[in-house]
Amino acid sequence: MFYKILIRPLLFLFDPEVIHNYILNIVSKHSLLYPVFRIFYSPGDINSVLISDLKFKNRLGLSAGFDKNGIALRFWESLGFSHVEVGTVTPLPQPGNEKPRIFRLKKENALINRLGFNNKGADELKKNIIEARKFTGNDFIVGVNIGKNKDTSIKNALEDYKICFEKLYDEADYFTINISSPNTEGLRLLHEEQYLDTLLSELQKLNHHISDLKSSDVKCIFLKIAPDINNEMIESVYRTAVKNNISGIVATNTTVQRPKIKSDLDEQGGLSGKPLKSMSDKVLKKLNELNKKNLLNPLILIGAGGVFSKKDFDDKINNGASLVQVYTGFIYEGPSLIKKILNKNN
Ligand SMILES: Cc1cc2nc3c(=O)[nH]c(=O)nc-3n(C[C@H](O)[C@H](O)[C@H](O)COP(=O)(O)O)c2cc1C
Repeated sequence: MFYKILIRPLLFLFDPEVIHNYILNIVSKHSLLYPVFRIFYSPGDINSVLISDLKFKNRLGLSAGFDKNGIALRFWESLGFSHVEVGTVTPLPQPGNEKPRIFRLKKENALINRLGFNNKGADELKKNIIEARKFTGNDFIVGVNIGKNKDTSIKNALEDYKICFEKLYDEADYFTINISSPNTEGLRLLHEEQYLDTLLSELQKLNHHISDLKSSDVKCIFLKIAPDINNEMIESVYRTAVKNNISGIVATNTTVQRPKIKSDLDEQGGLSGKPLKSMSDKVLKKLNELNKKNLLNPLILIGAGGVFSKKDFDDKINNGASLVQVYTGFIYEGPSLIKKILNKNN
């Protein structure tokens, strides 16, 4: 209530990206406040879950893109998230698209963004994770979401993913391969089997090669997909992921469609938040059906898209998700959303 009545109206007076970066910078620098956040926002003891050898202290995480450069990991941990997906990171730093490039659709509880992978590059992210890791607990999971630079052609995309994978291998608890941002031209072509099969098999080769050199386990690799693909494409992506021993799928990224939008705001980019939920749920449901036909080797499903309440979270779990991630819901509902979702008596 406090957030929605007092804080949110104040934050919403400012440009979405400006206020986002301002708050992120503040919370990343004031570590003395973390115990206070922990008391106010972190949920009580929850049953932890083991997912592909990784122990998550609960099923809720922060979705990719919120903390692209991993500057506030300790803050996310203090709020009670089990995990955060940092990135999308690209090999080289890049500024992203022209501003303004994030827009609020307040009536719809939604955002449109066309950031275009603005980030400080793989080296900077690595440095930030190493620094934060001195303080975060071993039970706080950091996933690294990787992509390609704008100037890299789709034909050469694999090289960019490989660079990010190799550079961040030691820091990532798991990797997510982002093939679904609508704001990098041609990226979504990577859903097509001809590209995806090579991308996944080459990354798995690298995964095995590095793990052999380090005598360590191979890393879990997830694939983040778009909500704008048809059932045939979902089946093809699923088959290719299983064939290449991918751990799981994050469903979904933002949509280029405009379902249930009444505002006349006509901006290009990916739509997230409440209007996305039924689309993302549909993709998750389809993946869950495919899992039921593949009981020997099911994929781990991570649900993202339109989670604003415990009911939305439960919908994702009931549709087969092992983990759930939030982004837009966190902006609209504030940090108390975490307790609302995770505490048993809510
Ligand atoms: C401003 C913004 C930036 C985002 N950046 C990324 C990104 O860099 N990489 C990515 O995989 N997803 C990105 N996403 C997508 C989210 O991680 C999430 O999949 C999507 O927004 C659906 O969840 P939501 O409805 O809870 O926001 C971004 C979303 C928003 C709103």
